[in-house]
Formats: sequence, C-alpha cells, structure tokens
Amino acid sequence: SKPIKKTPSKAEQPVVVESEVTKEELQATIEKLNFKLEQTNMQLDQFAHTTSHELQEPLRKIMIFSKILLQKEPKLKTQEVKKYLEKIESSSVRLRKLIEDMLNFARVTNYEKLLIKTDLNEILKCTLFDFELLIEEKKAKVITHKLPEIEAVPFQMSQLFYDIIHNALKFSKVDVAPVIEIASRKLTKKEMNSHANLDDKLSYYEITIQDNGIGFNQKYAEQIFTMFQRLSNGGEYPGTGIGLAICKKVVQNYHGEIFAEGLEDKGAVIHILLPVEQPKKLPDDIPTILKTWV
Ligand SMILES: Nc1ncnc2c1ncn2[C@@H]1O[C@H](COP(=O)(O)OP(=O)(O)OP(=O)(O)O)[C@@H](O)[C@H]1O
Ligand SMILES: [Mg+2]
Repeated sequence: SKPIKKTPSKAEQPVVVESEVTKEELQATIEKLNFKLEQTNMQLDQFAHTTSHELQEPLRKIMIFSKILLQKEPKLKTQEVKKYLEKIESSSVRLRKLIEDMLNFARVTNYEKLLIKTDLNEILKCTLFDFELLIEEKKAKVITHKLPEIEAVPFQMSQLFYDIIHNALKFSKVDVAPVIEIASRKLTKKEMNSHANLDDKLSYYEITIQDNGIGFNQKYAEQIFTMFQRLSNGGEYPGTGIGLAICKKVVQNYHGEIFAEGLEDKGAVIHILLPVEQPKKLPDDIPTILKTWV
C-alpha cells in the first residue's frame, strides 16, 4: 500500500535558519573543541596515573616509618623516635601537597591559568625526597646539577621528573647500583633548528636524565613513548607502560620535545627540551558564536 502523503502543518515544517557560519569556521571550531577534549582526556590519564604512582611513594614512607616505630619502639632512643616521627610528618605534608596539586589541576579547565615561574631544582628536590626509600633500598647514587627556572605548572614538572627518575631507578641492573645524573644546559639557536617541533620564537633548555641501567636498543627509542608499550628486556619489572606516554604529552603541550637514547646493557638517557617561557597567545580563540557552549 502506498504511504499517505500529507502536507506538513505549519508546526511540523522544518525551521530554516540562515547561518552565517561557514564550513571552514565550523571545521576550525570542531578542531578547537577536539583540542579541548584531548586536553581533558590527558588530565584524566594523568589523574589516574598520579593516584597509582606519585602518591604511592610518600604513602609507602609513612607506612614503613610507622611500622619501624611500632615494632622497635621500646628499643629506640628518643632521638631516633623523633627522627622517624619527623619523617612521617614531612611525608604526610608532601602527600597532602600532591593531593592538593592534583585536585587543583583536575578542576581547572584552562591549565594555562596555573602556569607560574617554576624552579626545577625545587621540583627535583621534592621528587628525590619522595624516592628517599627506593634510593636507599637500591643503594642508588643521584648526581644533580643546576636546573633552570621555567614557566610551567609545577605539578606537571613533578610528574615528569617522577616518571623518568622512577624508570631510571626501576630499570637498573640486578648487580649494579644505579647511578643517575641529572643536568641541564641552554640550547643554541643552531641546535634548536635540528628539532622540527620547537617554536623558534622561544628559548629552550635541555634537561638530561642519564642512568646506568639495562638500557634498550636504540631502534625502540620512539616506541617507548607510545601508550602501553613496554620492552621485553624490562619484562620482569612492574609497570603498565603509561609513564613515558604521559611525559610526551606534557612536554608537547609545553611546545617542547622529549626523546631517548639507549644502549643495551649500558643505560639510557632521556632528553627533555622545554622553553623558558610559554607563548603568550592561548590556543583558545573559539569563535564568539560558540563561546557559550564551552
Ligand atoms: N631508564 C630506562 N632504561 C631502560 N628502559 C627503559 C627506561 N625507561 C623506560 N624504559 C622502557 O620503556 C618502557 C616504557 O616506559 P614507561 O615509563 O612508559 O612504562 P613502565 O615504566 O613500564 O610503566 P609505568 O611507567 O606505567 O609504570 C618501559 O617498559 C621500558 O621497557
Ligand atoms: Mg615508567
């Protein structure tokens, strides 16, 4: 049977609105919204990663020092009791700071608002403080040199250092105490030119984190920055393969670059190129017509 044709009543007629938005403008808007979505996804990844990683070391310290106090308390001298209590207190303060920073970061929709002059020496000091136990357990030697002050979100720099130093401590050789060296230097314009993704209007520092661990074959140097990619020589070491992928996203967001050098059985060097200041214009100029959506 034939469908009955009926003239639509006035209310049913489609409303045609003259749109002033061109296809190109819409495309640009979609791209910008996608960028925002990607940023939000990145924050989520980082949020989950931080909870399972960065918060664990200070917590582990609190637990271990409390356990020592509980088990050995009658035999400990007042001085020693005081030392452990102070350690518990400082680790708790650090843990609270990490949670605060993480929540602040998760709440902002525009992370550029959190950008401040960040002394990387301070960030590194806190990271090494968090790894105090692991460094002691592994008998690791950490050599630090002067680092720059750059415009950044301190929490994200802390994440970078945490993941890379954690790897350097983790992927160590069974019978060799880890030696980790962290240094920095200013990049010359000429050196900048050999890295295609750097913004030539900014000035950059290179930060290197070198270790003497199991290393890797240079042919995997890019692969290790991919989400969930872990190399077989590191098979027996715990992890999920997220750390370096997050580092890469963070560094790219800062208009920087991160890359790795590996030598099997000799060690690895992670290079981070970061600008001293971020470009002033934000990638946020969404056409006014759509501003209310976001
Ligand atoms: N310093 C290093 N020395 C040797 N291999 C490394 C080093 N850093 C990273 N790798 C290799 O790169 C892989 C990816 O590193 P990534 O930090 O992303 O993951 P992970 O440490 O395995 O897990 P997660 O960081 O999520 O806990 C590692 O599994 C390891 O194979
Ligand atoms: Mg890791």
